Amino acid sequence: MAKVSPSVLSADFAKLGEDCKKVLDAGADMIHFDVMDGHFVDNLSFGLPVLVSLRKALPDAYMDVHLMITEPLHFVREFADAGADCISFHVEAANSIRSTIASIKALGKDVGLVVNPDTPVEAVYPFLEDLSLVLVMGVTPGHGGQCFRPGTLEKISKLRSECDRRGLDTDISVDGGVKLNSTAPQCVEAGATILVAGSAIFDADDVPSAVKSFKAL
Ligand code: DX5
Ligand code: ZN
Repeated sequence: MAKVSPSVLSADFAKLGEDCKKVLDAGADMIHFDVMDGHFVDNLSFGLPVLVSLRKALPDAYMDVHLMITEPLHFVREFADAGADCISFHVEAANSIRSTIASIKALGKDVGLVVNPDTPVEAVYPFLEDLSLVLVMGVTPGHGGQCFRPGTLEKISKLRSECDRRGLDTDISVDGGVKLNSTAPQCVEAGATILVAGSAIFDADDVPSAVKSFKAL
């Protein structure tokens, strides 16, 4: 059974706390918090003060923070202090991947490394032993509601085999275009252990039952 991480990018920001509570009550394992800086991706979302408020409203929630920013190292301490439980950053963004991983770990947080659709999954291999998760993007990051890139499945299975070969139980998360009746079961079959879903959950007619259906995959 995969873990489910609803992406709040598709939530109603006027009632963000309520929307998060709804998915957590329905069984979501964590909250996926997408931070965009307008440089690394061509969009802006939200940042530290929003995370601080959410953490206050949901003291026990596991916050899965996805940094789509050019200078992750510069911000890891602030995100840790604001309430992140896991901080994921892009392998394409950081010059100093090893020091960024080390800083996140030193702050007592889980670390994820993210790989974009056009980046070979092998880019994360040198760091695998130090990661809690690898986040494989199913779309070019920046916007919710895009179509899943088919090559993503092969990347997930390659990565699963590499982790198995090394005896690692690293989580493999997939983000972007993850839909209940099509791509989500395919990702699980390929070896994904965390499903990030924004529009498929928050745009559903019945949000709690969408979460439950994801959990049942
Ligand atoms: C994309 C974000 C995703 C996004 C996924 O840049 O990282 O987390 O919210 O949205 P859906 O599930 O709608 O593709
Ligand atoms: Zn994301």
